[in-house]
Amino acid sequence: MANNSFGIDLGTSNIKIYNMAEDSILNQKNMLAVRNKKALFAIGDEAYEMYEKAPANIQISYPLNDGVIANIRNMQSLLYEFIKISTNNNVKPADYYIAVPTDVTEVEKRAFGDLIKNAGLKPKKICTVEKGIADAAGIGVGLNEATGVMIVNIGAETTEISVISLGGVVISKLIKAGGVKFDEAIQNIIRRNYNLIIGDKTAANIKHELASGIKEENDLSGMVCGRDVVTGLPIEVEIPSDLIYEALKEPLHTIMDSIKVILERTPPEFARDIIKAGVYVTGGCAQIRNLSDLITKSTGLNVNISENPSESVARGLSRIINNNDYKYLAYNIKDITNSYKK
Ligand SMILES: Nc1ncnc2c1ncn2[C@@H]1O[C@H](COP(=O)(O)OP(=O)(O)OP(=O)(O)O)[C@@H](O)[C@H]1O
Ligand SMILES: [Mg+2]
Repeated sequence: MANNSFGIDLGTSNIKIYNMAEDSILNQKNMLAVRNKKALFAIGDEAYEMYEKAPANIQISYPLNDGVIANIRNMQSLLYEFIKISTNNNVKPADYYIAVPTDVTEVEKRAFGDLIKNAGLKPKKICTVEKGIADAAGIGVGLNEATGVMIVNIGAETTEISVISLGGVVISKLIKAGGVKFDEAIQNIIRRNYNLIIGDKTAANIKHELASGIKEENDLSGMVCGRDVVTGLPIEVEIPSDLIYEALKEPLHTIMDSIKVILERTPPEFARDIIKAGVYVTGGCAQIRNLSDLITKSTGLNVNISENPSESVARGLSRIINNNDYKYLAYNIKDITNSYKK
């Protein structure tokens, strides 16, 4: 039987793993819980469930920061465990395709390949694919025509803005902005306005419920539970969506400004294409309500929000894995078939 292949999008918040044999995408929190600094206690969504609720001897952390691997050992264990889940405990030698940001150093890019090489997965082949290219393949644009396509992936800790043409990256910028910055802004504004300290998960949940790119006519509201700064007691407060809008205004504008800068730097022949087709928005934060209105208002561009945007990169990797015409989009960093002996 032919090799199996996996496509990996290591997000700072969520890891997405495409398994060719199952034709499925595993999407879980990129998080692990370690007990007494040694034993792996829980991973992924299960670790996230425990986050902010665990006792002091259980450390729960994200091994990726700002899109680069911060804790290699933890990331290796986590990846191995996820491949085990994805294969029902049957980890066999396979080919690995991993998405890497364009706008990071060669050393950081290599670290993604080394991660797979050293995670105990017995890889036969390791390929990297630029994230913007995988996103383009996921959406189905920018690969075969000499047309400029702009893709903005707004993730948890990073936003990557790429201009793609003929399957190559023309220009790309990675900024440290995304869902986590929105969550922090929400925590700050709620503390200032209500003397209330809320946790990361609470902030993310209220964001999912209320965040909007533009100020809405009908004010919605949601309940949050936190700790009163003055009394130290837990209380529940009703938060209006206007406040969440105020919190997100500045971090969202940072992203809007970056889109404008990239558009200005894009060669005019490509810029014309982008204006015609509109910008493609992916990443989990693409789900913020009325985001397209904000982008259009700020940049003048029409907007296409991709479906299930958090998995767009993994979907693109699946197309690259399954379609021989797209194989050229993957860069084989090392064919290690010969060096691997079972
Ligand atoms: N409905 C929603 N509304 C607003 N934000 C959302 C929604 N659903 C998910 N998000 C946010 O999307 C982010 C996760 O997106 P994604 O999975 O693309 O990130 P990632 O790939 O892990 O991060 P990065 O690409 O920055 O490394 C989180 O910040 C999450 O709170
Ligand atoms: Mg991502």
